[in-house]
Amino acid sequence: MHKLIVANYKMNGNSKFYKSIAKKLNIGHKDTKIVLCPPFVYLPFLKVKNKNISLGAQDISMENNKKSTGQISADMLKEFNVKYAIIGHSERRLTMDNDACVLSKINNAISNNLTPIICVGESKKNSALNTVLEQVESALSVCEKGKEVVFAYEPVWAIGSGEVPTNKRIIRVVEQIKSTILKHEIEPICLYGGSVNEKNYSELLKTNIDGFLIGSASLNVEKFIEIIKGVDND
Ligand code: PGA
Repeated sequence: MHKLIVANYKMNGNSKFYKSIAKKLNIGHKDTKIVLCPPFVYLPFLKVKNKNISLGAQDISMENNKKSTGQISADMLKEFNVKYAIIGHSERRLTMDNDACVLSKINNAISNNLTPIICVGESKKNSALNTVLEQVESALSVCEKGKEVVFAYEPVWAIGSGEVPTNKRIIRVVEQIKSTILKHEIEPICLYGGSVNEKNYSELLKTNIDGFLIGSASLNVEKFIEIIKGVDND
């Protein structure tokens, strides 16, 4: 199966940055799928003409009610050709999104034919897997058979810290995430995210992951392209 690499640009960049990324990313890579997730306002600047590159949002509204000041709905994003939405990122779970909110967002994504990229992960190094699997089970309760869903195992302690779990740990967690997904008769796709960079990606690829969710290393387009090419040739 092809690998998937998701760039989470968080609250970085400006129109000039996204215009230049769009030009530079028109590289002839083979079959690795790329999803670029800029802040909402910069989506129109990422005009990438490559069938393997799609647009994603960093979040979507949990509401369907038009009286939702400041929210962006799934159908608005579709107008900008957005195909994916990151949901439940730990930076949002920490301060803004509780479990019910995450479930409504997954539901909104799926019913609007956006593929949710659902982030799950433990907050402390080597803590028990229960929390991660509970997050997965909870998310699956609103997922539909036959619809594409992507999970991203992102240990909170690994995000932006420069630290990554051992391959042994990743293999164990991802194995359990995938077997939980399979019980729901959904294709198991699980990325890894948290301090992935051009130096550690090839080691991480020796595990059972289906790709990466990349934050800071996606901001340097040359390094990001190095990762894409390396994954393509894996
Ligand atoms: P990082 O971020 O690659 O900078 O650790 C990953 C993420 O937050 O999704």
